[in-house]
Amino acid sequence: MVANNAQKLSLLCIAASPRRGGNTDRLLNEAVAGAASKGAMVKHITLNDLEIAPCQHCDGCIQTGGICAIADDMQWLLADLREFDRFILASPVFFMGVTAQAKAMIDRCQALWVIKYIFKLPVGLKKDIARKGAFISVGGRSHDKMFEGSIATVKSWYHALDAEYAGEVLVKGIDHFNDIDKNHSALREAFALGQRIVS
Ligand SMILES: Cc1cc2nc3c(=O)[nH]c(=O)nc-3n(C[C@H](O)[C@H](O)[C@H](O)COP(=O)(O)O)c2cc1C
Repeated sequence: MVANNAQKLSLLCIAASPRRGGNTDRLLNEAVAGAASKGAMVKHITLNDLEIAPCQHCDGCIQTGGICAIADDMQWLLADLREFDRFILASPVFFMGVTAQAKAMIDRCQALWVIKYIFKLPVGLKKDIARKGAFISVGGRSHDKMFEGSIATVKSWYHALDAEYAGEVLVKGIDHFNDIDKNHSALREAFALGQRIVS
């Protein structure tokens, strides 16, 4: 979905669940609506629809100054991750971490880590805009540490992207396909997150 307003901040929304229309998808849709209500330019992608191979640690990105050697959808996604101003990743908890779809995408951002730490260049392509990222997650269980693994991974990813970790919506006890529909406050929180991240 793309809302037009070239003057406004751009937001890349990344759905990382394999379950289309499931709980994190619904929360992300609310965040997209919130951001669009502020006039942001929003691009919404679903990782499960893309071809993203796992990082091979071939160090091709070191030899080429930050260009990943694998020819798949990460080529344009890496460009988007440099071009956009704001990001929201939505992934359910899978075995105490993010989904395989999210982790494959994150690991391929090693090419951006190389740009930042080996070549000491800015990752974001726009000079004057502070980059920020947020995280949406749900899990079927309800215990204190259930989001810790995912948050550590997502914070480390945003750090490599030169984006400040600037918000989260984390909802426990959400397991079946429609569970999030009963949680109106979480849906409202996600809408507000979308508004805030582009404000
Ligand atoms: C492979 C797999 C692993 C899971 N691991 C966890 C887990 O470690 N902790 C948890 O709370 N829920 C876990 N769940 C449950 C999902 O997080 C839950 O069903 C969630 O609502 C799915 O979100 P979605 O509808 O956005 O796909 C797991 C589900 C699957 C399929």
